[in-house]
Amino acid sequence: MAPDTEIPTRSIEVCFTPKLINLFDYKDSIVVVIDVLRATSTICTALAYDAESITPVASIDDCLAYRNQGYLIAGERNGEMVDGFDMGNSPFQYINDKVIGRKIALTTTNGTQAIKAVEDAAMVVIGAFVNIDTLCRWLKNQDRNILCLCAGWKNKFNMEDSMLAGAIVHKLKNHFKIDCDSAITSEMLYMKGRHDLFAFLENSSHRRRLKRLHIESDIKYCLTPNQCNVIPIYQNGVITKLINTHI
Ligand code: MLT
Repeated sequence: MAPDTEIPTRSIEVCFTPKLINLFDYKDSIVVVIDVLRATSTICTALAYDAESITPVASIDDCLAYRNQGYLIAGERNGEMVDGFDMGNSPFQYINDKVIGRKIALTTTNGTQAIKAVEDAAMVVIGAFVNIDTLCRWLKNQDRNILCLCAGWKNKFNMEDSMLAGAIVHKLKNHFKIDCDSAITSEMLYMKGRHDLFAFLENSSHRRRLKRLHIESDIKYCLTPNQCNVIPIYQNGVITKLINTHI
């Protein structure tokens, strides 16, 4: 008798940078936005530590405008905290009682822009190593195709986002069709580096950029899986914790 194997009908694809997003038909899909260093790791952390919501905004001026509405304002440019803001983009700044119950407006160089680039998708969720297993358990039970969108760096490819996309592909590949070379390649990259992501990424551009800013502890945190049991979801311009996840 033939083994009782599931024949996948849903697909999983990977888009290496926001610049390539128009090549993908994602409007009916779940898009997982990925900016491992550090925006999506920070968003997961803020919600895991009970911030009420994160509003991603494109510019520093747009972000400042939220201060008058009682928001904490947060963000970075090129990795450095914006002068005069309440917080930068280090996840450790959000492991703090001051975020509990607060609305936060966040602007970052790449991550928040990538989220806004796919706001017309059926669903947009936020992925990071820090929430990978919670996210994948939930994705496995959804009935839509998945597109992993890597934020990259200023529209260029980066290693850490592609490796997380590869980790997601690896965890879901028995349940999804993989008909996309970027998904296959990102999984290969992940398989090569997965036993020591920190060492594997040593020469990657953003690791070096953050090293120059003396924030290696942020990198170690962002590359450590499963520290936040949350699935952030972006709806109507705001990121909140997805509830009723049945996971
Ligand atoms: C980004 O959105 O480009 C970042 O998360 C950069 C950073 O703060 O490390």
